[in-house]
Amino acid sequence: MRLKGKTALITGAARGIGRAFAEAYVHEGAQVAIADIHFDAARKTAAEIGPQAHAIKLDVTDQASIDAAVAEAVAKMGRIDILINNAALFDAAPIVEITRAAYDRLFAVNVAGMLFALQAVAKHMIARGGGGKIINMASQAGRRGESLVAVYCATKAAVISITQSAGLNLIAHRINVNAIAPGVVDGEHWEGVDALFAKYEHRPSGEKKRLVGEAVPYGRMGSAQDLTGMAIFLATPEADYIVAQTYNVDGGNWMS
Ligand SMILES: NC(=O)c1ccc[n+]([C@@H]2O[C@H](COP(=O)([O-])OP(=O)(O)OC[C@H]3O[C@@H](n4cnc5c(N)ncnc54)[C@H](O)[C@@H]3O)[C@@H](O)[C@H]2O)c1
Repeated sequence: MRLKGKTALITGAARGIGRAFAEAYVHEGAQVAIADIHFDAARKTAAEIGPQAHAIKLDVTDQASIDAAVAEAVAKMGRIDILINNAALFDAAPIVEITRAAYDRLFAVNVAGMLFALQAVAKHMIARGGGGKIINMASQAGRRGESLVAVYCATKAAVISITQSAGLNLIAHRINVNAIAPGVVDGEHWEGVDALFAKYEHRPSGEKKRLVGEAVPYGRMGSAQDLTGMAIFLATPEADYIVAQTYNVDGGNWMS
């Protein structure tokens, strides 16, 4: 058990990759706070995982909600050793159809939500001393632009950049900030992605998903479980000397 006795707050953990991280962390002996805007789904997920999982209501676009979620996680688990900034939204549109509302919505969740959740947990970690681990979810989309995905790509480039700055700033407190950049990961999230590509690239439903899977050098889309090894490793003392990095876990899609 590599995370025995540790406590983790995971944003957007009601489903998908965040849920898989929560399950893997509990398997490694940690307690986890399943923090999500969809509280009923978070409660169901926590109940399915077991007594080591606690559901917490969190909207990362609302500072009061972030502060309350951090306080609740500390009240329920005693402290927060690990934060995974996982909550995010996806969108796609040609450049001439991007709306300010869509831009604001994605940056509010993917960038401001990530930064201010990181800040709130970092304040807690600094106050209690002893360091901590913060893992931000970036994406291969943050490594380069995509024709229909300008805003999401920009938010994930910002995640990589803030990971670098926060990593450099917080390592003095022995808080390691790093990121994981997945490629294409199968799950409910991809139903929405596939529908947007079907609309803008005039494809039958399911075709985009099949094509992106075939294009991965490994030969298939990723699963959430393909990412858990990196998420566990970055939270262990073995990763103490890793600072401000973003790791690609994408079956070979991107090299940098
Ligand atoms: N699935 C992929 O192909 C893929 C690829 C690269 C990166 N990622 C990144 O991995 C992370 C997880 O992706 P996923 O596929 O599991 O997504 P998902 O859509 O399945 O899950 C996202 C979760 O975030 C929650 N959420 C949304 N807005 C929120 C808010 N304001 N406050 C709190 N919670 C909120 C949702 O309720 C949901 O439970 C995201 O950061 C995503 O950008 C995913």
